[in-house]
Amino acid sequence: MLSKLIREILALQPDSREVEAKGWVRTKRETKNIIFVELNDGSCFSGVQCAFDRTGVSAQALEALASLGTGASARVSGRLVPSPAAGQPVEIAATDIEVYGDAPAEGREAQPEYLGAAPYPLQKKRHSVEFLREIAHLRPRSNVFGAVSRVRSRLALAVHKYFSDLGFVYVNTPIITHADGEGAGNLFQVTTLDLDAGVKAGGDYSRDFFGSKAFLAVTGQLEAEAMASALSRVYTFGPTFRAENSNTSRHLAEFWMIEPEIAFASLEDNMEIAEGFIKALLRAALDDCAEDLAFFDERLEKGLVKTLESVAGAKFARATYTDAVRELEKAAAGGAGFEFQPRWGADLQSEHEKFLTEKVFQGPAIITDYPRDIKAFYMKQNDDGKTVRAMDVLVPKIGEIIGGSQREEDLGKLCARMVELGMDIPAYSWYLDLRRYGTVPHSGFGLGFERFIMYATGVANIRDVIPFPRAAGRSGL
Ligand code: 4AD
Ligand code: MG
Repeated sequence: MLSKLIREILALQPDSREVEAKGWVRTKRETKNIIFVELNDGSCFSGVQCAFDRTGVSAQALEALASLGTGASARVSGRLVPSPAAGQPVEIAATDIEVYGDAPAEGREAQPEYLGAAPYPLQKKRHSVEFLREIAHLRPRSNVFGAVSRVRSRLALAVHKYFSDLGFVYVNTPIITHADGEGAGNLFQVTTLDLDAGVKAGGDYSRDFFGSKAFLAVTGQLEAEAMASALSRVYTFGPTFRAENSNTSRHLAEFWMIEPEIAFASLEDNMEIAEGFIKALLRAALDDCAEDLAFFDERLEKGLVKTLESVAGAKFARATYTDAVRELEKAAAGGAGFEFQPRWGADLQSEHEKFLTEKVFQGPAIITDYPRDIKAFYMKQNDDGKTVRAMDVLVPKIGEIIGGSQREEDLGKLCARMVELGMDIPAYSWYLDLRRYGTVPHSGFGLGFERFIMYATGVANIRDVIPFPRAAGRSGL
């Protein structure tokens, strides 16, 4: 792999060793004597330059080079030498090439037709993210998506390391559930009933696969609470599904969430763990994905690396919802020009979250103690009877990346709230058992993995940080 080769190059003086490189052609450039081919295999941002001296390679190799186009896959062999040109410390003085598969720049005759005649769509030029989204199967070969994919992978490792170092147990919660874990009602139903035959509202689900109505999980939290009620500190990291019809740059129908659940933890403990988590992820990206982040800094968001460095080292601002709304009302009165008027009792809109982080706190902020009526049923009720021990972590440009809370551990209070909300109590009987038998104060949160990747890379649309995005009206490839 090129990343390995480059590591070796940095450790060694180039000593005219025989090497070979395999990858996809990014560019081909010709001078009178030399044909330059840049190969990239995706293992790191850089490719390797292969210089073929026309006089020193076989006729067969020259023939292969003549028809070699961007996107073709090949193996190049030669000697590693110091590069005479600026731009790379070393290059391959190439002696041979084997082409695995070509990638024509022009349409070609295709017989039969289903073999396809279209040219390779990723020719050397900048492509818009919208165009790349249309070719989700080829966009991993683009600079942006390659870099996003490597950062995503590194962050996933950092998730496990952070929680493992703090003694958390990694648990897997179900993807198919019977409960609406957030009470927000945006569920995808899972059924084997024949929809083509028509299913009546209030239909007979005893004939369905599970014998009752089932859904894709919007969260793994409720089951994580069961696990934390035995193992103390647990976390999940899995896909979640929401049939939200919000066609925004921050919402997916299928996204990944990391949900720690912590027994014997107050909201303050929860905030410490959440803040430490975000900083640990940023540190991992800054330390181990420097080349990819430098590219994002140059191409997507000037100053990104400096901002992430400072966030990784600074204390996050904290404020109650009530204080935050007061700030917003002040700003609205001063002509901030919000589309939605801030008002105590209403949820914070994305524009409000951005204003708070970009203008008021100038960095990430943790907002706590939201009105109970806009938050989920399981949150711990405050003594004021109006607010709950909720916390959202907001960041500039994106808004909410974490939602969490202390949970209501009191059986009576939790039941009363569920009755008030008209919930089906028997369906949640197992959840209430956690309060019936050995209940403990506990807290947790969920980090939207894609939202975090947006923050760490400067990518503006959530569909561009997950390989095969699923969103309303479009499931694509
Ligand atoms: O705030 P949410 O809805 O919280 C929960 O699901 C809790 N059960 C978490 C917990 O306490 N264990 O979602 C958590 C995070 C949000 O802050 C956001 O980052 C992300 O999940 N998220 C989405 N990301 C992409 N597309 C969507 N449609 C999202 N909905 C939420
Ligand atoms: Mg939320």
